[in-house]
Amino acid sequence: MTVDTKVQYARMGARLIDHVKNGTTDWAADTMEVPSTNYTDPDQWQREMDQIFKSQPILVGISQEIPEAGDFKTLNMLGVPLLITRQKDGSAKVLMNVCTHRGMQLTAEPSGNQRMFSCPYHGWTFKADGSLRAVADAPKFGEVCEGARNLVQFPSHEEGGLIFAVLTPDSDVDIRAYLGGMMDDVAAKGMDQWTYVGNRVIHGPNWKVAYDGYLEGYHFKAAHPETIEPRTYSNVMEYDAHGPHLLVGFAAKTMMTLGEVEQNELWQHETRGYDFIRLFFPNVSIFVAPEITQVAQMIPGPGPMENTTILHFLHPKPPENDEDHAARIEMADWLRDVVQEEDYNVGLKLQEGLATGLMKSVLLGRNERGNQYFHRWVQWYADGDESAPKPEL
Ligand code: FES
Ligand SMILES: [Fe+2]
Repeated sequence: MTVDTKVQYARMGARLIDHVKNGTTDWAADTMEVPSTNYTDPDQWQREMDQIFKSQPILVGISQEIPEAGDFKTLNMLGVPLLITRQKDGSAKVLMNVCTHRGMQLTAEPSGNQRMFSCPYHGWTFKADGSLRAVADAPKFGEVCEGARNLVQFPSHEEGGLIFAVLTPDSDVDIRAYLGGMMDDVAAKGMDQWTYVGNRVIHGPNWKVAYDGYLEGYHFKAAHPETIEPRTYSNVMEYDAHGPHLLVGFAAKTMMTLGEVEQNELWQHETRGYDFIRLFFPNVSIFVAPEITQVAQMIPGPGPMENTTILHFLHPKPPENDEDHAARIEMADWLRDVVQEEDYNVGLKLQEGLATGLMKSVLLGRNERGNQYFHRWVQWYADGDESAPKPEL
């Protein structure tokens, strides 16, 4: 962890203590209206898919889903079938799971370990690095230039246990620069060495309705009275940003026990007094808890009214015994239930209200500062004008 990060944590920790003491929270300058159609309009949604999800780096997988050479996983991101493979040299490749002969889906398996992929249609074979290994019955087929029919490959970057890619093969976006200081922070956690507990898949509303829910603790008291609120203060947040990415601090009910801790030691108290949610714009929310870490990977679509979210669960250490393992599974199921029943089901209802078209806008409070920042960034990208000033927190 860098000195800057320690200073950042200590500053946010101290601010959270003050907020609890004074009954305050971090504040934006004003409230902000967001047109309801931003959540429901198909044209707006398409702009977001084109200008954000298909043009900017997005999380496509977790390193520990494919730890060994030859491991692979497949998933469909916004209609693009992906095949993510672990190479002999330890690196990951993000490929399109589409055979370059006539376009058949190369493998239907969700995951596995293979050195080679054989197309089920005519039997062309590909290596795990995406290169075409052999054309079936080649003498009868005709010439195929070497290298001309390899699988489509997407630019990718793996760090901190996370695999990011840009779903535009010839994109020149600098992925590391985009991830910026948020990746410095996350990488220091060392999640690339953690144990993958498993994942749970849930379905919910428009991706921004869902994302809004990760950005504030204003709803804890009313929506999570028996799950989150007993542990964490409702409506006490502190925000910081790295570019469009957000670090959101929440005060745990044990926060005041930190009153004696020296300010310069406060950085050590994440999960022991305060908690962070780390958000990589536009589709990731990471919640580190002592029991388990949840990485939510949001996949919008197929239209503006729905998203699929993969909740990945990780732990710093392998389980010590069966009991330990069972406790982690239970925790993963519990968190899945909270997000599904208390967040996404609320989101689906909320969206019905917006879809009536009879409520002109939603109103984001001064306390919903992270939401305001997020919506400004969505609009900045959707507008597609790079010369426009970037949003500031
Ligand atoms: S489509 Fe794959 S071998 Fe023909
Ligand atoms: Fe929630």
